[in-house]
Amino acid sequence: MDGDSDDDDRPQLSAHTLAALQEFMIEQAVQAEQEAAPEMAAMPQEDWQLSQFWYTEETALKLAEEAIAAAGEGGRIACISCPTLYKKLIDLAGERTWTAVILEYDKRFKKFGNEFLFYDYNDPLNLPKDFAHAFDIVVADPPFLNEECLEKTCRTIRYMAKEKILLCTGAIMEKKAAELLNARPISFKPQHSKQLNNPFLCFTNYETLKLK
Ligand SMILES: C[S@@+](CC[C@H](N)C(=O)[O-])C[C@H]1O[C@@H](n2cnc3c(N)ncnc32)[C@H](O)[C@@H]1O
Repeated sequence: MDGDSDDDDRPQLSAHTLAALQEFMIEQAVQAEQEAAPEMAAMPQEDWQLSQFWYTEETALKLAEEAIAAAGEGGRIACISCPTLYKKLIDLAGERTWTAVILEYDKRFKKFGNEFLFYDYNDPLNLPKDFAHAFDIVVADPPFLNEECLEKTCRTIRYMAKEKILLCTGAIMEKKAAELLNARPISFKPQHSKQLNNPFLCFTNYETLKLK
């Protein structure tokens, strides 16, 4: 038999089967992690293909304190594309009165359990009906620094927010943040564990309570 024909004889998986296999492997990894550390495993490594840049501990803590204060007693917090913030909220939880959800594209965050919702900004209104104007504070950190990504993410934000919005993104988005959300920059500057080239800001449409 010709050695070159070995590859041709190998069974091929269809793209669909490969995707299903990948999904299955993620589920298995998540389950194994939950069994090993049910309280909450550490943040996964940043995947730069997904534009993942995690906040420093201090930034995550400050954003979490602001979100909790802004949500108020029994309030609902939505974290859109900011898993470090969601994780910090859960770490702080104690006897919490508030609830939080995390909308994320990266399925590794299924480990957060029932509060995880798969989210792709390209399909911004593919959301549960009971998310409509249901959140006391919506915090978002869109993956890409372009107008299309911000516009689509803002459709989600406006759908979910009762009123208060906190957006973390590049300073170059200032004009768009005002136009789309009526949000203005505050002096607090989010820091990332790896240095970013673009200056980052926080924009809010309300008077912040904990962030200066
Ligand atoms: C700039 S990072 C913000 C993360 C934030 N600094 C943190 O520490 O939690 C952007 C986030 O968007 C997520 N993301 C990537 N592609 C996405 C998509 N198509 N739709 C929604 N979110 C996406 C990434 O997984 C990442 O968590």
